[in-house]
Amino acid sequence: MSGAFLLRRLEVRDLPVRVAWMNDVRIHATLNIQVPVTLSGTEAWFERVRQNPSRADFAFENERGELVAMGGFTDIDSDVKKAELYVFVSPDLKGQGIGTRIVKLMCEHAFSEMGLEKVYLNTNADNVPARKVYEKCGFALEGVLRREVINNGQIKDRLRYAIYATPPPPGVGAVLNASTGILPLS
Ligand SMILES: CC(C)(COP(=O)(O)OP(=O)(O)OC[C@H]1O[C@@H](n2cnc3c(N)ncnc32)[C@H](O)[C@@H]1OP(=O)(O)O)[C@@H](O)C(=O)NCCC(=O)NCCS
Repeated sequence: MSGAFLLRRLEVRDLPVRVAWMNDVRIHATLNIQVPVTLSGTEAWFERVRQNPSRADFAFENERGELVAMGGFTDIDSDVKKAELYVFVSPDLKGQGIGTRIVKLMCEHAFSEMGLEKVYLNTNADNVPARKVYEKCGFALEGVLRREVINNGQIKDRLRYAIYATPPPPGVGAVLNASTGILPLS
């Protein structure tokens, strides 16, 4: 799919699609959420969060005005200038390169429009498509959280990735062993 994507704020009219996507196993299988998600619960959630300055929720449209993805930033910290990213693509459009383009767009928005210096996220270690997307977008692995979450009845590791507006000088993240997650003693 070519053409630019529009990033805009999430609106009430997007919520039925959001609920349908979240209840689709192709989406919730890799998110650690309780399903089914209800429209009334999502509307109540949106009413609570829409004015919350510590988060920003977006919908993404293609050039025909069709929704292709949703995502946003949570825990926006305006002092440290960091936020956590989340994203999910329309279940019918996964695997077409959209997630990669959306995450790049979100990072550009975070750094250019929101004044953030750092965007981070956590993903289940077995979420290979997500890890590929983040690594293609320039995120680096910063940590391994062992036995961190239950997903589909299994306890799984979580991986912490981050990207910076201006890459910081090498720190402990640079010597973290990606396969063991253990910092060498020096
Ligand atoms: C994760 C997600 C956002 C990625 O979006 P997407 O549009 O599917 O991603 P892209 O098509 O840009 O890239 C996916 C990559 O994973 C690869 N991939 C897809 N399924 C795969 C699999 N089962 N095994 C290995 N690689 C796989 C694709 O080939 C592609 O890599 P490539 O560009 O090197 O070929 C999307 O799949 C999604 O919404 N998943 C459900 C929700 C979720 O997990 N969100 C992230 C939580 S951290």
